[in-house]
Amino acid sequence: MKYEARLKNEVETIRFGMILGEFLLGGGRVYIKGSLGAGKTTLCRGVLRTFGFSGAVKSPTFTLIEPYELSSGTIYHFDLYRLTDPDELEYIGLEEYFQCGNLCLVEWPEQAGQKLPAADLEIELILKDKARQIILKPKSSKGKDICNNTLTSWSENRCHSECKMFYEYEES
Ligand SMILES: Nc1ncnc2c1ncn2[C@@H]1O[C@H](COP(=O)(O)OP(=O)(O)O)[C@@H](O)[C@H]1O
Ligand SMILES: [Mg+2]
Repeated sequence: MKYEARLKNEVETIRFGMILGEFLLGGGRVYIKGSLGAGKTTLCRGVLRTFGFSGAVKSPTFTLIEPYELSSGTIYHFDLYRLTDPDELEYIGLEEYFQCGNLCLVEWPEQAGQKLPAADLEIELILKDKARQIILKPKSSKGKDICNNTLTSWSENRCHSECKMFYEYEES
């Protein structure tokens, strides 16, 4: 199974994030790579929506971490873009965030050097013309299950919406 998909617009990135979120309800560590504007925060918005958060998702660029305590679980959304030295992470007490059961979504994980614990899943978003390519790289057995389930559900979901579009077209 190849863990990649094409996301043709912002709505698809959000929908992909929502599906991914269903398989992250038990927590996990998801590290999201990609250049500025690749869609990392958009993907996180989808995940947060599945956890029941429908407000605006600010990119926590200046605060590094944005916590979300939601009925479906606790999410810590990190954006390490502005981290100048991985040693700064020593002072924020990472252990507390990365406890089992929490979901940690980390944008720009490469900025942390070796300070972050191992990921369950690494995601890469790549600009492809006006769309995006998403690549999922499982880093644990839990990550592998998340990938299998997400991609299966994504392709079923996509088929449904394409069939629906087809019927809508037929009816008109
Ligand atoms: N699949 C997609 N196709 C086209 N544009 C997208 C897609 N996903 C997200 N975008 C757009 O990319 C822009 C940057 O997204 P953002 O999530 O802030 O990027 P990042 O957090 O990686 O810097 C937003 O305007 C968003 O609407
Ligand atoms: Mg961002």
